Amino acid sequence: MNSPHSPGASWFRDLVIYEVYVRAFRDSNGDGIGDLKGLTEKIGYIRDLGVGAVWLLPIFPSPRRDDGYDISDYRGIHPDLGTMDDFRELLDRAHAAGLRVLTDLVLNHTSDQHRWFQSARYGPGHPFHDYYVWSPNPGRYRDARIIFPDFEPSNWTFEPLCNLYYWHRFYHHQPDLNYDNPEVRREMLDVARFWLDMGVDGFRVDAAPYLFEREGTPCEGLPETHAFLRELRGLCDRYQPARLLIAEANQRPSELVKYFGAGDEFHMAFDFPLMPRLFQAVRAEKAQPLEEVLRARPALPAGCQWAMFLRNHDELTLETVSEETRKFLWDELAQDPRARLNMGIRRRLWPLMNGGRRQIELLHGLILSLPGCAVLYYGDEIEMGDDLSLGDRDGVRTAMQWTMGVNAGFSAAPAEKLAVPVVHDAEYHYAGRNVQSFDRRPTSFLNWLRRMVKVHSVDPIFAGGGMRLVPCAHPSILAFTRELGDAAMLCVFNLSRYVQPAVLDLTPWKGRVPVEEIGKAWFPQIGEAPYLFTMGPHSFIWCRLESV
Ligand code: NOJ
Ligand code: CA
Repeated sequence: MNSPHSPGASWFRDLVIYEVYVRAFRDSNGDGIGDLKGLTEKIGYIRDLGVGAVWLLPIFPSPRRDDGYDISDYRGIHPDLGTMDDFRELLDRAHAAGLRVLTDLVLNHTSDQHRWFQSARYGPGHPFHDYYVWSPNPGRYRDARIIFPDFEPSNWTFEPLCNLYYWHRFYHHQPDLNYDNPEVRREMLDVARFWLDMGVDGFRVDAAPYLFEREGTPCEGLPETHAFLRELRGLCDRYQPARLLIAEANQRPSELVKYFGAGDEFHMAFDFPLMPRLFQAVRAEKAQPLEEVLRARPALPAGCQWAMFLRNHDELTLETVSEETRKFLWDELAQDPRARLNMGIRRRLWPLMNGGRRQIELLHGLILSLPGCAVLYYGDEIEMGDDLSLGDRDGVRTAMQWTMGVNAGFSAAPAEKLAVPVVHDAEYHYAGRNVQSFDRRPTSFLNWLRRMVKVHSVDPIFAGGGMRLVPCAHPSILAFTRELGDAAMLCVFNLSRYVQPAVLDLTPWKGRVPVEEIGKAWFPQIGEAPYLFTMGPHSFIWCRLESV
């Protein structure tokens, strides 16, 4: 990776990102709450994963009714997590270790406790009233869907102080900002500038599609919203090196691609279309869902790329898949009705895959070799489980497991004071799944992942190479090449639980020799005949096609 201060806008081309929920990561002062100093203590651990950036879930003052996505002050640090000096220290230490720091930028809504809304509620004429979207009746913008249908019956909530309804796309305590008001647009660009000036390397822009509303539309991805997002990009481009913008836009491919603009909007967008298909392909043991979504992947403007992920702090959303696929995934992955939430599944990666290490390696092999960046979720590297007894998405946000000691080494506080619980259930107990134990064991998933991230990161072909699907008649085999100049890397995946033959037409590379990327084993030279790999259950192989 380039050093954080080297010039050039493409420092993120080969980035692997590690997503951290600070409150649950490491408590430095024994009050039971994970904090910024605790995260700073663990910078070495994150660097040793081989990742290039850490993304922090919201760290700002907030009543925390949506875990910090309900912000009450955009320019502060939540006192539970530390101080602004702690944040500066984190930035310095991360940068010194060669890690970039990304934060959430929540543009769409504030908390109802934000001083703007507290004043706005008194009605027209009161300061900041026009910072929010009001209506005398809840009939406007009927074509906008409800995003949290398990919790909110409407996108409008009545405010008795002014006898008006206010607009919100998420929880009712998260009023949407009114982007038609130029003051709001200016304020939010100032917020972005505030953090960029401090040295933040980029933003994961929360809820990017919903900034503007227009009657008769779904109120998502409107041209006005894109125009504002381009302004935000313009701001980031004024910094050197340019700061990174990642879109959280849970949209179908044809809509999602618009968030890249003409290369003048987001640098990256989370690959929401790919994510559920990864699980579908593994559970159905078929390559087809992946081939389809990869073929439909639109071409991106230069300098743009996908941010691929398996799991994050939210439910595994199934909003953009067909009803049939949704039913399949619900039946396969969420037999326990408590696992279902809104239009998705609130489980961590390991329980989702019933602890199947081979399947989980396969999934990581995919996001580390398909074009784009991979985003990892804290705890998945140590096979963390979840806690379905907790409400909403809290079950996937439990304490990081550092040791087999008290509170899994997360905090020295008495267990009853922990801000987030530690997973105790027998199958996923922290005694068996923690950094200390996994670190020592060369065969652990943690050490496997570290090796794979390293192999991925040192090879420019994964950062900049194009991708070509390699036809294969076998329904369980997915094969593609990554190509950069004359170099080619063949990637073959067996989605089946059984050994399978992968018979591939490799004649375009006739004369070359496949050399396996990890162990450097040489395979027979490619000739005219179909080429055979014997693939173990849920296995994958990366082979450089060497000219000899
Ligand atoms: C997306 C975030 O990932 C989610 O956690 C949050 O609830 C909504 N945006 C609202 O901010
Ligand atoms: Ca603390």
